[in-house]
Amino acid sequence: MKPQRGTKRTKLRLKFLCLVCLFVAAFCLPTMLATRPARAQNSYQATLSIRLDQPRSTISRHIYGQFAEHLGRLIYDGLWVGENSSIPNTRGLRNDVVGALKELHVPVLRWPGGCFADEYHWRDGIGPRDKRPRRPNSSWGGVDTNAFGTHEFLDLCEMLGADAYINGNIGSGSPQEMMDWIEYMTSDTDSELANLRRRNGREKPWKIPFFAVGNETWGCGGNMRPEYYADVYRQYATFIKNHSGNRIQKLASGGYDENYNWTEVLMAQAAKQMDGLSLHYYTLPTGNWEKKGSATQFDEKEWHATLVRTLRLDQFIQRHSAIMDKYDPQKRVGLMVDEWGTWYDKDAGRDMGALYQQNTLRDAVAAAINLNIFNKHADRVKMANIAQMVNVLQAMVLTDKEKMVLTPTYYVFRMYRVHQGATLIPVDVSGPEYKSGDASVPSLSVSASRDAEGRLHISIVNLDANRAAEIMTTIWGGAIKNVSGEVLTAPAVNAMNTFESPNNVKPAPFNSYKLEGPQVRLTIPAKSVVVLELD
Ligand code: AHR
Repeated sequence: MKPQRGTKRTKLRLKFLCLVCLFVAAFCLPTMLATRPARAQNSYQATLSIRLDQPRSTISRHIYGQFAEHLGRLIYDGLWVGENSSIPNTRGLRNDVVGALKELHVPVLRWPGGCFADEYHWRDGIGPRDKRPRRPNSSWGGVDTNAFGTHEFLDLCEMLGADAYINGNIGSGSPQEMMDWIEYMTSDTDSELANLRRRNGREKPWKIPFFAVGNETWGCGGNMRPEYYADVYRQYATFIKNHSGNRIQKLASGGYDENYNWTEVLMAQAAKQMDGLSLHYYTLPTGNWEKKGSATQFDEKEWHATLVRTLRLDQFIQRHSAIMDKYDPQKRVGLMVDEWGTWYDKDAGRDMGALYQQNTLRDAVAAAINLNIFNKHADRVKMANIAQMVNVLQAMVLTDKEKMVLTPTYYVFRMYRVHQGATLIPVDVSGPEYKSGDASVPSLSVSASRDAEGRLHISIVNLDANRAAEIMTTIWGGAIKNVSGEVLTAPAVNAMNTFESPNNVKPAPFNSYKLEGPQVRLTIPAKSVVVLELD
């Protein structure tokens, strides 16, 4: 059958239309989409209120503290290489590591342990290094040369600009030994111990703002009952003396996780004698100390479980604080979370020393959540020390001979340093839960503070491994003209920096925002940490 003339025309029109559509699809659509405000493909909506009009407590800068124990390759190799090492150093301390740590503005450094503190005798670590005794490290293995002692530690603190936090030995020491150590470090008199310090090369005394009486005295520090330790604490604390204008904050060894009875007994029996009480909490992906989980090989379920366990610290702090409030309503005694962080199984394939572990994007997200929690409890939490600074557990820096790599956690500490000493600003977040099986957590963790110059900083963690957060942010009590910031994320939940490939996870400038009058529309990528500055 011959086609009709009218039908032919219709077909020609249709062909023309198809060609136009193809042209639009191929050339115009991508340009149109690119110029539209960015909208994530897979995202959820949330709202955030920032109450600049309701400032709260000062965030103690000591919340951003570090911990360095004689453990694995932290002190030896990680920090101390000795003056004759081919690794560039200043008075024996590695230049690369110290330089990197300086960037973090480390406010306080705890030393020499941990469990090691209760077997450490300070006289072993002073005087000519070739005369110092070699002692077994019975907590973590190997032999300690004592090359790194009091002078080396305090030299490190001065290089970093960090306050010194010394953990005293009650497990195997005595009140006299502790008292002498404090006099040796802080007295400017003509006493025998002050003169010994001078003969060992340090004329002026050091300032020691924090001194703890034992560590984990319910466990490695002596397996004590809280009633017994409360008395021991009171005895030792009596002999922590202030010399030559130095003012020491006395810290008692506290409980862990849900060990609320420890806090109850210590506060009831020794609160008057203390300035701080510690709390230890480690995040294990499985919650099982026998099989904690891998540092690098995990799926989204384990990512989620790790974040669930990280968030538990919020409740622990609330409940320990509530007990402290009963005895100390003025909140004079600080809760010092002087050990926290992730703890994984030893990596069988690459034994780099005791408690050495790799660090991934998951650790960065966990660190950021913890720091937001500490900020939130700024009225009671006065110090926190991540475990530990170099080559051990959730480290800032990993080293392998002359090589050094910065971990994702390092970058979180660098991004968050803006909160140190700033005023806490309340936030109200509303958004969906992030679920895995029956478990569920809020998708977002947020904290805000205002610094002395009036700049507002907001730290936002998107826990959701898959979906970006579209957040409409309202700032109450202030007008915002400028927004800038950094974002830390990576394509995979277990992305990490290695010696071979050190830049897989590092911050990038954050541009996914739009100022809309008093509001800011933010797009926070999945599995990311963002820190913004608004003024
Ligand atoms: O940080 C490692 C160890 O964990 C510390 O020595 C101890 O205090 C805790 O049990």
